[in-house]
Amino acid sequence: MEMVTLQAYLSSRKALVEEALERLLPWAQTPTTQLRAAMRHSLLDGGKRLRPILVLACAEALGHSPERFLPVACAMECIHTYSLIHDDLPAMDDDDLRRGRPTCHKQFDEATAILAGDALLTLAFELAAQPIAGVDPQESLALIRLLAQGAGMAGMVGGQMLDMLSEKRQLSLAELQTVHAHKTGALIRVACVAGGRLGGATPDQRQRLADYGEAIGLAFQITDDILDETGDSQLLGKATGQDRQSAKATYPSLLGLQASQQEAERQVHRAIACLEPFSSQADPLRHLARFILTRTH
Ligand code: IPE
Ligand code: IPE
Ligand code: MG
Ligand code: MG
Ligand code: MG
Repeated sequence: MEMVTLQAYLSSRKALVEEALERLLPWAQTPTTQLRAAMRHSLLDGGKRLRPILVLACAEALGHSPERFLPVACAMECIHTYSLIHDDLPAMDDDDLRRGRPTCHKQFDEATAILAGDALLTLAFELAAQPIAGVDPQESLALIRLLAQGAGMAGMVGGQMLDMLSEKRQLSLAELQTVHAHKTGALIRVACVAGGRLGGATPDQRQRLADYGEAIGLAFQITDDILDETGDSQLLGKATGQDRQSAKATYPSLLGLQASQQEAERQVHRAIACLEPFSSQADPLRHLARFILTRTH
């Protein structure tokens, strides 16, 4: 699978996810157009859809076609988008631009942005609780628990708290890795495990997909840190230079750009090694891992 084929894969899965976000979400079921508009503003345009695509790609690596798993894929994107809305709030990173558009609190107001985030988070669990043809409800239940752990205090929210606290003091590399593994790695790992579980992965396959997700999750946040220093705001759809300005703990600030890039490469190689026993059906996962190193947005 060449890079051009990866691009074709990503754009076809992105289209599936975006069509599902429009179709599967209960957009009519809110008494307020303001909340719906704010949720749609943040959710429906501009994201790479990495986490939902990982759900699908992991299930596909086990020989399944992706359609049945779209509600869970959409749930991942809802949790991720909520995390971005709240991450951008003035009390957190205080950003004005996201996915090439004004952040939710800029387009609407802070109260609306907080509530749009809350609504997306709860919506994720509504979606994940939908019965899936051919999947044992016990398996869905286990998956909902994993989603909650990945999103909550043991995962992303815990990492965001550490990230905020890191503005006040210098971290060691081990501490920084803990921040990144939680704020970004946890959700990416869960996306992979979810796809694996839905695809009927054996315990060994599940563990491998979890390790793969953990490694690309870390590589992904390292490249996010690098792009904050070297990237193009127009391409990224968000401001650059923000991390230094708020004295965030990042890989480049601790290790420099070159060593950060090397660490991202090391994690990507680790990720690809985890996939060793999988067939060529896991090629999108292999190429996705490499793509993280060269991404410009
Ligand atoms: C941005 O995530 C926040 C991080 C965890 C690094 P993405 O880079 O996946 O953002 P979108 O979804 O493509 O906008
Ligand atoms: C965000 O990390 C991690 C989240 C859980 C949202 P960043 O704060 O670096 O993400 P960006 O750079 O704003 O997208
Ligand atoms: Mg942040
Ligand atoms: Mg931020
Ligand atoms: Mg960042």
